[in-house]
Amino acid sequence: MLFENMPAITGEEVENALRFGAEQVVRNLTDFTYKFQKAYSEGGFYRPIDNNYWTTGFWTGEIWLSYEYMKGKDNPLAEQLRKAGEIQIDSFLERIEQKIEVDHHDMGFLYSPSCVAGYKLIGSTKGREAAIRAADQLITRYHPVGEFIQAWGPMDAPENYRLIIDCLLNLPLLYWASEETGDTKYRDIAEKHIHTAIANVIREDYSTWHTFFFDMKTGAPDHGATCQGYRDGSAWARGQAWGIYGCALAYKYTKRKEYIDIFKHVSQYYLEHLPKDMVPFWDLEFTDGDDQPRDSSSASIAACGMLEMIKSMGEEDAAVYRRYAKQMMKSLYDTYAVKDADLSNGLVLHSTYSNHSPYNTCNHYGVDECNSWGDYFYMEALTRLHKDWKLYW
Ligand code: GLY
Repeated sequence: MLFENMPAITGEEVENALRFGAEQVVRNLTDFTYKFQKAYSEGGFYRPIDNNYWTTGFWTGEIWLSYEYMKGKDNPLAEQLRKAGEIQIDSFLERIEQKIEVDHHDMGFLYSPSCVAGYKLIGSTKGREAAIRAADQLITRYHPVGEFIQAWGPMDAPENYRLIIDCLLNLPLLYWASEETGDTKYRDIAEKHIHTAIANVIREDYSTWHTFFFDMKTGAPDHGATCQGYRDGSAWARGQAWGIYGCALAYKYTKRKEYIDIFKHVSQYYLEHLPKDMVPFWDLEFTDGDDQPRDSSSASIAACGMLEMIKSMGEEDAAVYRRYAKQMMKSLYDTYAVKDADLSNGLVLHSTYSNHSPYNTCNHYGVDECNSWGDYFYMEALTRLHKDWKLYW
């Protein structure tokens, strides 16, 4: 086993971290009830934005996780959180009705932690309606030729004819929509996409491509390329983490045994390329001694994936991945988590959204800052360690 001497987070630390997280979320409601957090902080502080970016669902998800925590403690602040969550659901319903910035595949990131969560937790009918509309929107991006959901951009352009590994987290919305409506079309598309994605984005050594192109005429797999990784052939840390969580969810919904095996290999590659403190640099190409920023959000995402996968594993395997998850969370809690609200209005420092390199195609922003999904998945992982959590995905 790797990292044998790394300590694991204790129950008391989980409790402390969740309490601080929920209190921080409550403090933020003043600025972020009718507004949303920007995708990343600047100098440690998020600015408010309208509900018009792919990341806004994470903030609402933090509100729901905090609501669950406070409610479990019989804390009256739970009521304030519930009301804020409902106000945000109104915004998500309006967004999908008016089709504001929804021409991309991130309907799951937007609508699962916000509206599906609100429906599951408090029976929000508006949340249900919004999330079903979002699932309808998501399946408009499905290419029957090629059998995948296109990530970004107009549907008829060859430069857009690709999927990205992150999309595995968008698919639970489709499974949920089939369950809710009784219409299997959502699930059928999700299943096709999962198969195409896993068959192509995972390389022979179990590192991962961030994005993968297909031939527009035949739908045949064409080539992998990066957008946010360091270079095409490297493993973008968050892509690998999306792969870990994505495989766990793929197994949850398809029950295909081979996905457990792939999960183990993808996790192994990730773990073997971590620095000593188990929090990756932004690309797994880099390790201790490299002067590069970290992506702490990847650690929380990987921990959530491991904590999900162990539900379907025998105790021996489960113990291994539970331990890795707890070790990663300990490292985040000790060294990366915000502990003083005067220094940041976020939860976890040292994340990287988009780091431009000479070999990639992304813009440069949100480097070595908090980011919204980093905060959300940190709270999700803590919640998973705190109780038997009914997932929003
Ligand atoms: N899904 C985009 C990202 O992880 O940055």
